[in-house]
Amino acid sequence: MSAFGTVTHLVYVACATAFVIGLHLMNTPATARRGNQVSAGGMAVAIVTTLVVLVHDGGVDAYAAWALGIGAAGGAVAGLVAARVVRMTAMPQLVSLFNAVGGGAAALIALGHRPASTAAEVTGVLDVLIGAVTFSGSLIAAGKLAGRVPGRPLVVPYGRLASLILALSSITFAVLFVAFGGGTWALTGIAVAALIAGVLLTLPIGGADMPVVISLLNACTGTAVAMAGFVLESTPLIIAGALVGAAGAILTKLMADAMNRPIGAIIAGGYGTGDAVAVAAGGTQQVREVTVDDAAIQLAYAGKVVIVPGYGLAAAQAQHEAVALAQALTERGVEVSYAIHPVAGRMPGHMNVLLAEANAPYEQLQDLEESNPGFARTDVALVIGANDVTNPAARRPGNPVSGMPILDVDRARSVIVIKRSLGHGYAGIDNELYTDPRTAMLFADAKAGLAALLSGLHAYA
Ligand code: TAP
Repeated sequence: MSAFGTVTHLVYVACATAFVIGLHLMNTPATARRGNQVSAGGMAVAIVTTLVVLVHDGGVDAYAAWALGIGAAGGAVAGLVAARVVRMTAMPQLVSLFNAVGGGAAALIALGHRPASTAAEVTGVLDVLIGAVTFSGSLIAAGKLAGRVPGRPLVVPYGRLASLILALSSITFAVLFVAFGGGTWALTGIAVAALIAGVLLTLPIGGADMPVVISLLNACTGTAVAMAGFVLESTPLIIAGALVGAAGAILTKLMADAMNRPIGAIIAGGYGTGDAVAVAAGGTQQVREVTVDDAAIQLAYAGKVVIVPGYGLAAAQAQHEAVALAQALTERGVEVSYAIHPVAGRMPGHMNVLLAEANAPYEQLQDLEESNPGFARTDVALVIGANDVTNPAARRPGNPVSGMPILDVDRARSVIVIKRSLGHGYAGIDNELYTDPRTAMLFADAKAGLAALLSGLHAYA
C-alpha cells in the first residue's frame, strides 16, 4: 500500500473511533452534546478525506469533483440550518426526514453502481430494498409526526395482501438481478416494490407506536448505509452504517419493551383499530376543575408529590417552571420526585433532556418501574401535559394504548392535571383519568399554569 493509502486508512480509523466515542458520550444528557460534536467532526473529516481520495486516485474528473464538493457543502448547510431552526418538539419529524434522506441516498448508490462480484450484487439488492423501504416509510412517519398524515392506524384495504405480493416481486427481481449479472431494470423493479411497501407498512401503524417505528427506520437507514459501504468497498461507510444500525436496533428493542408489544406485531400494524367503544367509556362523565389557589394549597400541605411530565411540558417549554415549583415544594419539606415514562414526549429521553436542561436533581428522577410502586403512598400526582402515558385504558385490550405500561397516577390519593383542554394525546383517544373522582383539572398552558401555581405557593407561604 502506498504512503497516501496508509495515511487515508489511518484517517478513516480515527473517524471510526470518533463515531464510537461520540456514541458513548451520548449515553448521558451531560455529555450528549459533546458526543454529537465528536461524531459530526469525525463524519466531516471522513467526507473530506473521501473527496481527496477520489481526486487523488483519478476516480472522478475535475467537474465531478466540483459537483461532489458543492453537493456535500449544500447538504451540510441544509442539515445545519434545519437542525438549528427546528423546534425541539418537531425534532422527531426532522429525524424521520434524515432517516428518509439516508435510506434514499444509500439506495441510489446501489442503483448507480455496477457490481463487480456476486457478493456486491447481493449487498446491492439489500441496499436498494432496505434503503427504498426506509425512504418512503420515513416520509410517511414524518408526515404522521407532523400531523400531515393522520396519526391513527390507517388500514389500507388488502394492504397485507399487497405487501405480500410486493415482497414476492422483490424476491423475483432479486433472483433475476443476480442470475442475469446485474441488470439495472431488475434493481429498479425492487426499488419500486420497496417504495410502495414502505408506505403500506407505515400507514397502519398508530401514533402511540411511532417511537418504535422511528427507531426501526433509523436501524434500517444504518443497515442500508452499511450495505452501500459493501457495494462501494468503503470502510467508513460500513463502520458508520453498522454503528447506526446496531444502535437503532437496540433502541427499537427498548422502545418495544416500553410499549410492552412484540416488534413484529407493531410492524404488522392496526393496533387499536377496533377500539371506539372501549375508549369512549369515560367521555360522558363530568370532569372536576380546580383553581390555582386550591391546587397550590393542596400541594403545600402534601407529604409526597410526584410530578409526571409529558409532551405538553415540552410544547410549552415549561421545564424551568416545573423544576422551580419542585424546588419550592422541597424547601417546604414536601418529598418530591419526577416519574418519567420511557415514551413520554416525542423522542427517546425527551423528558430527561428537558429536566436536565432545567437542572432537576438527578436523584429525584425516577423511571416507570421505580415510580409506580410509590403512587399508592403519593398525596398528589401532578400531571403536566402528559396524557397517553397516564391513560388507564391501557390496562384494557382493544385500543391504541392497550398493553402499554402506564404511570399509575390514578392510584395516588389525588391527581392534578395541568393541560389546556380535554384534548387528546398522540394516540388520539379519550383519557378516563380526567373523569376519575380523584382527579382535578387545572386547564392552562403548562408554563403559565406552573408559574401561577408557584406564585400561589409563595403567596400562601
Ligand atoms: P400525549 O399523549 O401526546 O399528550 C400530550 C398532551 O399535552 C395533550 O393531550 C395536550 O392536551 C397537552 N398539551 C399540549 N400543549 C400543551 C401546553 N402548551 N400546555 C399544557 N398542555 C399541553 O403526551 P404523552 O403523555 O407524553 O405521551 C406521548 C405520546 O407520544 C405517546 O402516545 C407516545 O407513544 C407518542 N410518541 C412518543 C415518542 C417518543 S420516542 N417519546 C415518539 C413519537 C410518539 P391539550 O391540547 O388539552 O393541552
